[in-house]
Amino acid sequence: MSEILLQIDGKAVKADEGKTILQAAQSENIFIPTLCHHKDLTPYGACRICLVEVEVRGRKNHVVSCLYPVARDLIVRTRSETVDKVRRMILEELLAHAPNSPELVHLAQEYGADKDRYERESSFCILCGLCVRYCAEIKQKNAVGFIERGARREIRFIPEIASTECWSCQECFSLCPTSAAQATYFLTEALAFPGKRKAPSDSA
Ligand code: SF4
Ligand code: FES
Repeated sequence: MSEILLQIDGKAVKADEGKTILQAAQSENIFIPTLCHHKDLTPYGACRICLVEVEVRGRKNHVVSCLYPVARDLIVRTRSETVDKVRRMILEELLAHAPNSPELVHLAQEYGADKDRYERESSFCILCGLCVRYCAEIKQKNAVGFIERGARREIRFIPEIASTECWSCQECFSLCPTSAAQATYFLTEALAFPGKRKAPSDSA
């Protein structure tokens, strides 16, 4: 595998071919904010907060760094007026859904985002897909998934699976940037199997 030399925020960075800009930056402790990224999960590209400016032979563009592969002589800027503006707009939209998320509130301070810009639609879930992908790819249980499309899209725990798998796991709770995964699980339990958690061995 060949090594690629690029530049991130003025620093020469080496990365293996096939790595993303985000991976190259993280290997040099250069911070790029992320909300839907997890190093062990398939990249998803949902939140767009990791947007960066790239320049190739004088031509500038903006790309999602958790998906975009490194390339020879690429010049990357993790902050610029446009990058900050886009991140601010993304955060203002997400804060309408999850205004009390510590992670969002912290980023909002960094980028000057107004958490009251949009009318509240507190679904709490920002659709980052971390819980869904973690449960499918790492735990291989598929106890939680997305339902519906567009503005009606949301996560849903499958009671038949959740009642046997989730109580002893709960690993997705700490991944969730808004605590929506935890809240949705407990709501599912209260409505669908109150007091009826089963050990996985009981379901055979
Ligand atoms: S419940 Fe949390 S982890 Fe799951 S998709 Fe929503 S915000 Fe992401
Ligand atoms: S972290 Fe890259 S799109 Fe979410």
